[in-house]
Amino acid sequence: MRSVFCVLSYSRTIKLRLSAHVEHGRLPRLHGLDDRHALRCFCTESSEPYYITTPIFYVNASPHIGHVYSAVTADCLHRYKLLKGCNSTFATGTDEHGLKIQQAAGNAGKEPLSFCTEVSERFRHVFQRCNISFTDYIRTTEPRHRQAVEHFWTVLQSKGFLYKGTYEGWYSTPDESFLTPDQVTDSTDSEGRPIKVSTESGHKVEWMKEDNYMFRLSVFRPELLRWLRSNPKAIQPVKFHNSVLQWLGDDIPDLSVSRQRSRLQWGIPVPGDPEQTVYVWLDALVNYLTVVGYPQPRSQLWSAAHHVVGKDILKFHAVYWPAFLMAAGLPPPRAVYVHSHWTVEGKKMSKSLGNVIDPLDAAEKFGVDGLRYFLLRQGVPDTDCDYYEDKVVKMCNSELADALGGLLNRCTAPSINPKQEYPRFGEAEFAGRAVSEDYRMMEAVAELPVLVEQHFENLHIYKALEAISACVRLTNGFVQRHAPWKLDRSDPGELKWLESILHVSFECLRVYGILLQPVVPGLAHQILSRLGVGPEERSWKFSAMRERPDRGRAGGRALGPDSGVLFGRLERRATKQKTPRKTS
Ligand code: ME8
Ligand code: MG
Repeated sequence: MRSVFCVLSYSRTIKLRLSAHVEHGRLPRLHGLDDRHALRCFCTESSEPYYITTPIFYVNASPHIGHVYSAVTADCLHRYKLLKGCNSTFATGTDEHGLKIQQAAGNAGKEPLSFCTEVSERFRHVFQRCNISFTDYIRTTEPRHRQAVEHFWTVLQSKGFLYKGTYEGWYSTPDESFLTPDQVTDSTDSEGRPIKVSTESGHKVEWMKEDNYMFRLSVFRPELLRWLRSNPKAIQPVKFHNSVLQWLGDDIPDLSVSRQRSRLQWGIPVPGDPEQTVYVWLDALVNYLTVVGYPQPRSQLWSAAHHVVGKDILKFHAVYWPAFLMAAGLPPPRAVYVHSHWTVEGKKMSKSLGNVIDPLDAAEKFGVDGLRYFLLRQGVPDTDCDYYEDKVVKMCNSELADALGGLLNRCTAPSINPKQEYPRFGEAEFAGRAVSEDYRMMEAVAELPVLVEQHFENLHIYKALEAISACVRLTNGFVQRHAPWKLDRSDPGELKWLESILHVSFECLRVYGILLQPVVPGLAHQILSRLGVGPEERSWKFSAMRERPDRGRAGGRALGPDSGVLFGRLERRATKQKTPRKTS
């Protein structure tokens, strides 16, 4: 209750001050924090279940920043939900069956399972290094997963949604995907020979004809449409929701959900038919159920499922997966969060171009938090984003090293804060000398938690970071404007004003520290520790600015130890070597 009271009274103070200024004709009308909104947002401490996943990644290639981007996005939402008091489960892992992996293991001359283990461990290591706080790491080669898939299959079968048929059509092994003729186009291979490729992915397709098990996908079209129309936030951002609606505008064919064992050995055998192997996408999607203990019912958690996926696998998550679930009598996911792709210096990342960004290298160069900050600050789900080292350096230097680090450093420096404490707020001194911009800055910071929360909930993490960064700039402006280092500490009136400036700056930094925890956990920890904010005061409900800090726990308490520079400035990459000029 106390924090709610504080939010409201703080906003009232700002409003009162503002109206006083307005009365004197010094300020335009300001839109204050809506109290009802504040109440709603800050009272919802709950132990509601929340379940967030990343795709499980194929082990035919090493992890790159695209994979890390999906993982960091999901990690940010997981950490945010934990701070909100939710009971959040966060799963990631690896997709290890199928033709593509069978071929990759063969090409590497390795036995499939040891090949999978090696690459799966590489993914796990990269995620741990990037501070991805998953609560479960699922591998599709685990026995618990095989049991889940077998059970799921028998449920689909017993409900009459599987039948034996012949599939004849295009198949893309790199995408492990069946394609209709209008999803295929002409192209040439590296030696100029004519081939067919998937229009969407550009990957080669082959004609195949096989006796398979088919899933009655076509009958789910009306139910899928109903689900999407009555849940406009089921697929986010809306542009992807609309593309799914558009696909469903036409009839959808039934889906082959097995391959002949003679072609595909590396997979889960169809229960009761050892001549067939379960289609890798059916196998892979069920991982989300395996994690929640399927077939044991843990329905509370399942109905809170949120999937973060790249746009390349939208069809599998927004059409096939909900249809499988409906067929099995389970609810579709609560939401599918879709993001676009990272390119590197304007080009698609690819092994052949040699431009694949290794996340371990990037974390080494920019720090884990530098990399996380850049990806989430620059990553816009709607459109593809470009990774450019110079851009990473510039952004980290200006926003983390200079703005945030500089602010912390300036306000905590022993020269300005010799007692090394969280100074008290002198209401009268502040009111006597603060100007309208100061109140506007405080108003913006008071509104910030609600704004950040809204952006996180809508998967607009970049907008949340933009808003925080704008507030950091305003707080720097506030400090700069009043130059507390120029004030005379020996004059009691000046000292109280100085302490009030520091107090407000610390309050701002405390708010930024709390709100930044999901994005840059290391830096946020450093900020909060330096301010002496204990672990029990770091949850979301403490993100409101406090009005009467002298009565609260903050005023007059000791700062934490100085752990050095918050974020060391990064060096710009050495300019590219110029190509030697031709001499004629
Ligand atoms: O599709 N930019 O695995 P996958 C951003 N195993 N994200 C990218 C990216 C890029 N350039 N490249 C990849 C599979 N990703 C299946 C998934 S889930 C039941 C099975 C991310 O290894 C993005 O999330 O090909 C994309 O959807 C995923 O990696 C594809 O990983
Ligand atoms: Mg892929």
